Amino acid sequence: MDQGKQITLPLLMSVGTAVIGSLQFGYNTGVINAPQKIIENFINQTWSHRYNEPISKTSLTAVWSIAVAIFSVGGIFGSFSVGLFVNRLGRRNSMLMANILAFISAVLMGFSKMAKSWEMLIIGRFVVGLYCGLSTGFVPMYVGEISPTALRGALGTLHQLGIVIGILIAQIFGLEAIMGNDNLWPLLLAFLFIPAVIQCVLLPLCPESPRFLLINKNEENKAKSVLKKLRGTTDVSADMQEMKEESRQMMREKKVTILELFRSPLYRQPLLIAVMLQLSQQLSGINAVFYYSTSIFEKAGVEQPIYATIGAGVVNTAFTVVSLFVVERAGRRSLHLLGLMGMAGSAILMTIALALLEQLKWMSYVSIVAIFAFVAFFEIGPGPIPWFIVAELFSQGPRPSAIAVAGFSNWTANFIVGMGFQYVADACGPYVFVIFTVLLVIFFIFTYFKVPETKGRTFDDITAGFRQTSAMAEKHTPEELNSLGADSQL
Ligand code: GLC
Repeated sequence: MDQGKQITLPLLMSVGTAVIGSLQFGYNTGVINAPQKIIENFINQTWSHRYNEPISKTSLTAVWSIAVAIFSVGGIFGSFSVGLFVNRLGRRNSMLMANILAFISAVLMGFSKMAKSWEMLIIGRFVVGLYCGLSTGFVPMYVGEISPTALRGALGTLHQLGIVIGILIAQIFGLEAIMGNDNLWPLLLAFLFIPAVIQCVLLPLCPESPRFLLINKNEENKAKSVLKKLRGTTDVSADMQEMKEESRQMMREKKVTILELFRSPLYRQPLLIAVMLQLSQQLSGINAVFYYSTSIFEKAGVEQPIYATIGAGVVNTAFTVVSLFVVERAGRRSLHLLGLMGMAGSAILMTIALALLEQLKWMSYVSIVAIFAFVAFFEIGPGPIPWFIVAELFSQGPRPSAIAVAGFSNWTANFIVGMGFQYVADACGPYVFVIFTVLLVIFFIFTYFKVPETKGRTFDDITAGFRQTSAMAEKHTPEELNSLGADSQL
């Protein structure tokens, strides 16, 4: 078997442990959907208990929306802070340390009912948002850095697989018969404690990223021995060679701060691509489905909306697995294009179904098909690819800052859709998905003209490609640009 494609036990275990962080992100994205009514009851009861009068409808909606949306605010802060940790503590220890936030959040949310405090719930959601924001940076970075080039896409997709499994588990646990009821909802929210414990036990057994060891720490022997373990072979010269090449580039680049990232013409192109891909993921409207599917299905006349929501979770998971198997063959670019196009088609179908619902009852079935297709196409490309491609587009120097900026864009767009969708849906009625269709077409065009294929290419090769493009654009030679990039770091 081709050595570059070897999946070894240590590699699988390291990736598997890291993506527990992704699972937490998915779980906390999905967990708040089903038990809405029950938690609203709790808010009402605590309010009455405190103020001797029932909560008004407006205050209730406000408290609820804040509890939902503050998660993404935490995500915005968390993702932006990734760079503060990864170079100081290392990739693995950063993931380990972040679990403190998971524990704090589990305690706050788990005891909120007992303490009769919805404030604890809101703070808990914010803290777990911080944790998830950090995870969406730490995990793709660690996975990208420990994976062999030929498997970077497939293993990178495991981050998204972790997320979608997390969402599905949350949807199922949220059923009334399981934990989505008056007594058990605090446990439903505090469940994140358990994956956090598991990750804390397993992470110390996983190696630090060899790229971090070699390039940031200059610990060649350690890097080599980690690589041997991860690759399952004693001959790691090719990997070492590639990392040293990257390291040599780094000597010129050093660490790149977020400000420098924006200033240097060298990074303009990959940064634009990274941000646009994040926006294409979130502004596709996917979380309109994952936050509000139950009410979308209800409006579309579906009889058991909760089960349709779980159906969407199952389709979501199944197609992430499909993407996992094809991403190294079909490539990132083509899958992203296919996904965006398919989502646009599904959004049109959804619009037709909603518009004709009054005349044709069976349109409610069409709406289910449309949402399932929407989700399936999402997972083919726009779901997994933006998360791992950022690590591919940048070399070691600018990578942490780039991941922070990309994560920040992702979470901000997530917040906007989460907060805004309900209002826009009320205003536009059945035509709300037209907005997403237009955005999807714009992102399709952008991807078609601007996004390069990164499949099977080393980090160094990808960066060199950008250096050349920007040299051409600015009419500089790559060498000139190199020193330009280096100068701006000083
Ligand atoms: C992606 C998105 C996330 C979304 C999920 C749905 O990971 O980043 O916001 O909820 O996909 O599967």
